[in-house]
Amino acid sequence: MDTAPDIKLTVNGEPVAERVDARTTLVDFLRDTLGLTGSHIGCEHGVCGACTVRVDGEIVRGCLMLAAQCDGANVETIEGLSDSGEIADLQEAFEQRNALQCGYCTPGVMATAQDLLLQAKKKKTVPTRDAIREHLSGNYCRCTGYHAIVDAVEAVAQARAGDK
Ligand code: FES
Ligand code: FES
Repeated sequence: MDTAPDIKLTVNGEPVAERVDARTTLVDFLRDTLGLTGSHIGCEHGVCGACTVRVDGEIVRGCLMLAAQCDGANVETIEGLSDSGEIADLQEAFEQRNALQCGYCTPGVMATAQDLLLQAKKKKTVPTRDAIREHLSGNYCRCTGYHAIVDAVEAVAQARAGDK
């Protein structure tokens, strides 16, 4: 019997080799096969952003990408972003400003916010509140009303830029 893995990829810095069903989405693979349940499933239609993860440096909807498409890819989930300390300041700002309530949207929101902050760093700019809202517009939150989320991301953007 052929037991060769279908895909080999890196997940949060660790090599992974697994057999996958052709129809398995990336977020199902991460949650069900690898036990990385920080990526959430909301709409399963690419609308809510709860499943957002980073693949080869770009944020993607984990419900719209197939695991099989990630052969050879570098996948980073909220667990990896958290464990590496990359988003420690964002996590602290969210806690300080009550930018989460149930937390269901939070992993996706943080991955998306970090994407904006990295883009801003590259361009040596500080995103405006409008730019933060625009970038996060594909991440739905049913609890917070978004103001506190924008406050937290803005505070981190300013702090990272050394601008109080
Ligand atoms: S579950 Fe993927 S966008 Fe909603
Ligand atoms: S904190 Fe509950 S959905 Fe955002």
